[in-house]
Amino acid sequence: MQRRHFLKLTAALSAAGALPLWSRSLMAAERPLLPIPSLLEPDSRGQYNLTARQGSTQWKGKDVPTWGYNGNLLGPALVLQSGKAVTVNIHNRLNEATTLHWHGLEIPGAVDGGPHASIAPGTTRQVTFTPDQPAATCWYHPHLHGKTGHQVAQGLAGLVLLEDNESGKLRLPTQWGADDVPLIFQDKLLTKQGDRIDYQLDIMRAAVGWFGDMMLTNGVQYPQHAVPRGWLRLRLLNGCNARSLHIAASDKRPLYVIGSDGGLLAEPVKIASLPLLPGERFEVMIDTSDGNAFDIVTLPVEQMGMTLAPFDQPLPLVQILPLRVMASATLPDTLATLPVIPKTEGLNTRWLQLMMDPQLDQQGMQALMQRYGEKAMGKGHHEMNMGGGDSSMAHGEHSMDHGAPSQQKTAAAYDFHNGNKINGQAFNMAKPMFNVELGAVEKWTISGEGDSMLHPFHIHGTQFRILSENGKPPAPHRQGWKDIVNVDGWRSEVLVRFNYVAAAEQAYMAHCHLLEHEDTGMMLGFTVT
Ligand code: C2O
Ligand code: CU
Ligand code: CU
Repeated sequence: MQRRHFLKLTAALSAAGALPLWSRSLMAAERPLLPIPSLLEPDSRGQYNLTARQGSTQWKGKDVPTWGYNGNLLGPALVLQSGKAVTVNIHNRLNEATTLHWHGLEIPGAVDGGPHASIAPGTTRQVTFTPDQPAATCWYHPHLHGKTGHQVAQGLAGLVLLEDNESGKLRLPTQWGADDVPLIFQDKLLTKQGDRIDYQLDIMRAAVGWFGDMMLTNGVQYPQHAVPRGWLRLRLLNGCNARSLHIAASDKRPLYVIGSDGGLLAEPVKIASLPLLPGERFEVMIDTSDGNAFDIVTLPVEQMGMTLAPFDQPLPLVQILPLRVMASATLPDTLATLPVIPKTEGLNTRWLQLMMDPQLDQQGMQALMQRYGEKAMGKGHHEMNMGGGDSSMAHGEHSMDHGAPSQQKTAAAYDFHNGNKINGQAFNMAKPMFNVELGAVEKWTISGEGDSMLHPFHIHGTQFRILSENGKPPAPHRQGWKDIVNVDGWRSEVLVRFNYVAAAEQAYMAHCHLLEHEDTGMMLGFTVT
């Protein structure tokens, strides 16, 4: 499917005499083509169908069991129109329960797909909702409590392309897969044998998250993609469980950020490189009119004071090959009208204190240092990787490093569901932490004071504005609609409002989007009435 879609494009372009010889030979080379997620078509009743299922994907020459929606890995993109009702049937053909959450959509708690909306194996859940918010690139993924990290790691995730009238009037690139290109970035860890995804939620991962050493773009390692010459629109999603990325062009050409999580910015923001936290989306425009090929890369990002190979240098994510044909889209000077941030005096405020379990923090760090400490200090620079096939970690869900028997007893007894906390409480499915008045504007302060972790904090049911991020005004490209804020050793303030009801049985979630923190308790439920 995806390949055919792409070949259609290249065929069209070369029929137009556009594909020069050099690029034909480049395209024929070893490098795989970038798969473009198909646009999901409605069925004869006008409804959409998403089926979570098992499949397999070839990586490094081996077939690896993976999960996908309507396919082997990831899922199709859903195109939604703001103001238009949509019905989606979510079928679960996995052997375990799952949920499907619409990350970034402002829709009622009843259809939000959080942990309460469990879909048993073999069953279907139908949701109907009407998005009413600005055009944006959102996404969908599972949200089963304690299992989100595992299910996303298996491959379950897909894009939602929300459109509205205003954005349609801008002459932004809209040719899906040609000049409007989605890039879903994810890292994966395979077993030493390379025959399956090596996911465990153990002490180390509960502390620092699950990291892989294989970097994928739309499910493929370092693919190539031919584009028309001119303005290229990239829809970037960091779909990693825990890894922060830092996106740039290999030849340092500028990125023009046009949109953040919840919609277009007021105007394009020109930057040299773009930090991208787990769960975040940004839309960027890149000028390819010079016709030169370049890579989109991720620059080294220190997490836990380390950058392990292959992430210790600019790592190519996708090669962009501009063709001779010219694209007609432009980069507008102004994009969207964002409401002015109101005065915050007198608003209801909330304080959310993120808390790493000190025991977990300490043991997790110990395990991490035992495993990577020496390497991370600069020895064996080239063999080092984050877990790359070194199966010293025990298998099975709540297990512990076999290489550290002294910790095993504690680990076996460790209650992963009550590890990390917010305001002293680990996530409690049965008890929402607070209620927010429907339609009220509130100022939430999310604090990560007291630990050295980066927490990409996400709130359901809203697109918010960032007032301050770790004590500083938000960067210009982070001043638009957002649903994730950076909380990194300090505190961040956001202005939220909820326009839909969420009852206790279908509460909204607020949580760290480092999925292993979320799964181990750094999440709260809240109601809106
Ligand atoms: Cu992307 Cu509550 O999640
Ligand atoms: Cu969400
Ligand atoms: Cu976190």
